[in-house]
Amino acid sequence: MSAHRPVVLITGASGGIGADLARVFAREGHDVALVARSADKLEALASEIEATGRTRPFVLALDLAQPQACEALAMALDEAGLTPAMLVNNAGFGLAGRAAMLERAGQIEMIDLNIRALTELTLRFLPAIIAGQGRIMNVASVAGFLPGPGMAVYYASKAYVVSFSQAMSQELEGSGVTVTALCPGVTATDFHARAGLETNLAKFMPAMSSHVVAEAGYAGMMKGRRLIVPGLFNKLATGLLPFMPNGILLPVMGKMQDRRKGS
Ligand SMILES: NC(=O)c1ccc[n+]([C@@H]2O[C@H](COP(=O)([O-])OP(=O)(O)OC[C@H]3O[C@@H](n4cnc5c(N)ncnc54)[C@H](OP(=O)(O)O)[C@@H]3O)[C@@H](O)[C@H]2O)c1
Repeated sequence: MSAHRPVVLITGASGGIGADLARVFAREGHDVALVARSADKLEALASEIEATGRTRPFVLALDLAQPQACEALAMALDEAGLTPAMLVNNAGFGLAGRAAMLERAGQIEMIDLNIRALTELTLRFLPAIIAGQGRIMNVASVAGFLPGPGMAVYYASKAYVVSFSQAMSQELEGSGVTVTALCPGVTATDFHARAGLETNLAKFMPAMSSHVVAEAGYAGMMKGRRLIVPGLFNKLATGLLPFMPNGILLPVMGKMQDRRKGS
């Protein structure tokens, strides 16, 4: 175990925020291990990072929503002689539509990825992270601060990520390990297409670039911050919306989600 090489393990690194986090970590001198389902995109990113003079990242194509995936990931890292000194749980997806209308399997898959895999990877690698006094970052969302009719399971899954991350950060105080919840608002990635949301983001609200979100996440994680909400608009939303009475907030959120659902 002690001979293992430390890496920053980043899930959902084949695109969007996760790929930009991988670029930032690599640029700052960390060796990274990248996981997602798309082998071709992971290999392309590994080549891009290697071309900057860094060690070629370890990549593993894996569907983390599958029950045995976290075990397979742990075994693959061990066989490669790697240990996660830091963990970035970024892989996640949303589905737009009323829960009663969406397919049940997809909604359960969301829980498997956004909640179960994130929790399992955290608990599984915690002993190694504590031993190395490392850091954990979980990618939550502004959605974690309020209920989201029209995307009910997704918003609830992100509320779990915020709550779990904050509680873990308290439990680990004094251990040398920090836990950060990164809470982006609307960010220009493939997330919206997969969710079935309108992809012309400018029609609805200001969207941030995944690069800016990744830079904010890295900086905040390295400072050991518990919560990072990138962007003034998102800070205002997370600061103010939870104080709005549910009688107003729920119908407003429901109408907004209906309008954002892809036409
Ligand atoms: N974009 C936004 O507006 C926004 C806002 C707030 C929070 N977030 C959160 O940010 C995180 C990153 O999302 P993103 O915006 O960067 O979206 P994205 O571009 O769709 O990236 C999602 C990443 O997760 C991977 N992934 C999806 N399903 C997977 C599975 N079953 N197993 C393993 N990897 C899987 C995807 O790769 P493969 O398809 O290759 O598996 C991809 O690398 C998510 O947790 C999302 O909820 C996004």
